[in-house]
Amino acid sequence: METVLSGIRSTGHLHLGNYFGALRNYIKMQNEYNCFFFIADLHSLTTHPHPDDFHSGVRTILAEYLASGLDPEKSAIFVQSDIPEISELYVLLNMISYKGELERTASFKDKVRQNPDNVNAGLLTYPVLMAADILIHRANKVPVGKDQEQHLEIARVLARRFNSMYGSEVFPEPQAFNFGSDLIKVPGLDGSGKMGKSEGNGIYLFDDEKVIHKKVMKAVTDSGPTEPNSPMAESVQNLFTLLSIVSDTATVQQFKDAYNDCTIRYGDLKKQLATDICKHTLPIREKIESIYHDDVYLSKVIKRGTELARESARATMKEVRSAVGFRSFLVNVND
Ligand code: ADP
Ligand code: TRP
Repeated sequence: METVLSGIRSTGHLHLGNYFGALRNYIKMQNEYNCFFFIADLHSLTTHPHPDDFHSGVRTILAEYLASGLDPEKSAIFVQSDIPEISELYVLLNMISYKGELERTASFKDKVRQNPDNVNAGLLTYPVLMAADILIHRANKVPVGKDQEQHLEIARVLARRFNSMYGSEVFPEPQAFNFGSDLIKVPGLDGSGKMGKSEGNGIYLFDDEKVIHKKVMKAVTDSGPTEPNSPMAESVQNLFTLLSIVSDTATVQQFKDAYNDCTIRYGDLKKQLATDICKHTLPIREKIESIYHDDVYLSKVIKRGTELARESARATMKEVRSAVGFRSFLVNVND
């Protein structure tokens, strides 16, 4: 059976981009594959969260994973920093990753632009740690949104480089995956770009009905079409993209027709969009709070997930260490 792995950083709450770009795929995949899903708390350290808030950040993503439908009986759910083998593989992969190729990564360039005062080495080697996350379980498929495509390419490059440098077949080449279609990008409602935590334009699974309506009603649009079939501004296209993710095809078509014959009222479109977003998110929201506070349940979930993840990680590291040439000086006195 093929192995699936994915993770989300432990910063803030999950938004619609995380849910529709990644998490919804996790939930479908757990019925068909050998699945590992984790919380990338080491990755979140690049932005230096305060130690007092760190654990609650991890707990939030864990509770939101479970409330969304991740089943701990089907998938191994774990926290990245509980698996020391990931950090060990990260060190080894750093030795075969080159500064130039990491500097060319689009996400690194974005972060440098956004935060010129915090260009730390962890940021530069972010894709190497991500490759370690994936390769430690020898994952074949990685459900992620479109923004992660380049990181997956780096994971493939490192898998190939390691295999060829050490004459081994330890690592398969992982592929980015979206159930049944291309990778998706959930747009923001502020006119352009993707929805994201760092972009500050998220609609969160944790938002209540009022907040969701308020955020959607504020979405940027233009002044409306003046001629039949006129081209759409990016902001309006984004509303339609979101509508096509959360609503049925007949509803989307009805608003497209209204746009094309210039009878559209953006207020109606937004109301429909907010209502349909709520249909997806409110049942999840209802469950988050009680799961968040259920220490016994969370401990059970993480215990099982960590055991499975460590077992898989240890098996990989045994082969990796042998391929690299590590040999122990400790001899068994009974031999
Ligand atoms: P953020 O971008 O908000 O910081 P993460 O980087 O932790 O969130 O992303 C976690 C997962 O969610 C990744 O698989 C990523 O591809 C996916 N994702 C995040 N934002 C979007 C989006 N707007 N559209 C599609 N997928 C997304
Ligand atoms: N880099 C991913 C993101 O920001 C999160 C992540 C870390 C991840 N390690 C991973 C995703 C391994 C998939 C597989 O979205």
